[in-house]
Amino acid sequence: MVLHGPNLNLLGVRETKVYGTFSLKEVDRNIRAFAKQEGIDVSIKQSNSEGEIVGFIQKAINQFDGLLINPAAYTHTSIALHDAILGTNIPTVEVHLSNIYSREEFRRKSYVSSVALGQISGFGMNSYLLGLRALIGHFNQK
Ligand code: DQA
Repeated sequence: MVLHGPNLNLLGVRETKVYGTFSLKEVDRNIRAFAKQEGIDVSIKQSNSEGEIVGFIQKAINQFDGLLINPAAYTHTSIALHDAILGTNIPTVEVHLSNIYSREEFRRKSYVSSVALGQISGFGMNSYLLGLRALIGHFNQK
């Protein structure tokens, strides 16, 4: 399952110098094409609501093998997301379009990274594809 957090629906319009001019639809198209090439099924969702994202994670456990998530601003604030990933124990890769360590100080803290397999940050749209590659690699090496 692929989850996009708050404001990522505004990609292409929002802070284009930081996030680029591509839309979320284009990101999703690339994720689907890559997944197809790798022979895996993906379900992609975006939500601006923390509670809804927690609900998606809870449901994912019976339906999906792993989670690729860009928690967006909830990365830096959400103990609820941290607890949902921890509680469901779903193998998770955290991704960010921008390099969260080269921006404002408050973006350097992630509540998700300690419960994720790993994090990919700073490669624009490619962060998602690299993250998916990492998640697939995690299952293949088992
Ligand atoms: C983001 C980085 C976050 O700090 C920010 O709140 C976002 C997007 C990224 O993909 O670079 O909304 O997760």
